[in-house]
Formats: sequence, structure tokens, C-alpha cells
Amino acid sequence: MDWVFDQDGVDWEELSNLYGIAPLGEKSAADLAVVFTNSMFKCFVYEGGRLIGAGRAVADGRDCAYLCDIAIHPDHQGRGLGQAVVERLKALAAGHRKIILYANPGREGFYRRLGFRRMLTAMAIFRDEAHALRTGLVAED
Ligand SMILES: CC(C)(COP(=O)(O)OP(=O)(O)OC[C@H]1O[C@@H](n2cnc3c(N)ncnc32)[C@H](O)[C@@H]1OP(=O)(O)O)[C@@H](O)C(=O)NCCC(=O)NCCS
Repeated sequence: MDWVFDQDGVDWEELSNLYGIAPLGEKSAADLAVVFTNSMFKCFVYEGGRLIGAGRAVADGRDCAYLCDIAIHPDHQGRGLGQAVVERLKALAAGHRKIILYANPGREGFYRRLGFRRMLTAMAIFRDEAHALRTGLVAED
């Protein structure tokens, strides 16, 4: 297994396919190139030259790091890889005062065992608010 922490040589179409199949939603190759380029930390896991896991963190270098887009190919889920990706990103972001994320509904337990605690005052504006409401990411009130 190869762990890569820069995006040189990343096939954005392959990454887009990984998110589609994981599943973590539809993310275009072009958008992924932008968001990963603008992320301070990134992690890619390869096996036999095939991309099987990824994640990234948007960070400001001092105060806040935001983990997102963590996904493992279904053929490789349940082998500790998701946990390892988060641990690697946590280590890269270790100097920050806070490392935050929001979990997809049902994934909270995965992050809780990795040391994340529920934020009591987190709030968000989603461009697609109806979808965020429907999928349980935000509350009406
Ligand atoms: C969530 C995801 C990244 C986890 O990766 P993974 O490689 O399957 O998880 P791991 O094997 O590293 O699991 C680590 C531990 O967390 C546990 N765990 C996994 N999913 C969990 C969940 N939803 N709730 C609670 N615990 C969970 C595992 O049982 C394991 O526990 P163990 O160490 O006692 O065996 C992966 O399932 C995935 O890509 N899902 C689709 C995309 C997604 O939802 N990404 C996260 C967005 S918030």
C-alpha cells in the first residue's frame, strides 16, 4: 500500500470515481482538482497502483483545520483504512488550535472513536439548504 501526501500525479477522474462508488456523492474531476489544490493537507492511498482511499484538510496554518472528503473504496472498507486516513490528516494538522469536521449522518461514531467530540454551537449555511435539511445535516430551527 502506498500513502501519498501530495497531489502530483493524481488522476482526478479516478478520484471522482472513488467518491461516486464509496459513496460520498457526485464530485466532478474539475471541482476536485480545485478543492484539493486549495487544501493544505491531502492524503491518497493506493494499492497496486489503484486509488482506494483519500481525504483532505483545508487549513490556515495556525488556528483551524477542516477535514473533509474522507472516503475508502467499498472493497477496502472495514480494514482500518478510513481510520488511518483520518489519523494521518490529524497528524498533519496537529499544530492547529482546532480540527473540525462534520460527519455524514450515521458516521458520527466513526469520528467519535477518533477523538472528535460533538460541537454544540456549530452552524452552517449550505448553498443547497433543502438538501442539507433533507439529509439531516442541519436543523430547521
Ligand atoms: C466512513 C469510512 C471512511 C470508514 O472507513 P473504513 O476504512 O471502512 O473504516 P475503518 O475500517 O477504518 O473503521 C475504523 C473503526 O470505525 C468503526 N466504524 C466504521 N464506520 C462506523 C460508523 N458509521 N459508526 C461507528 N463506527 C464506525 C469501525 O467498526 C472500526 O472500528 P474497529 O477499529 O473497532 O474495528 C468509509 O466507510 C467510507 O468511505 N464510507 C463512504 C464515504 C463516507 O461516508 N465518508 C465519510 C463522510 S463523513
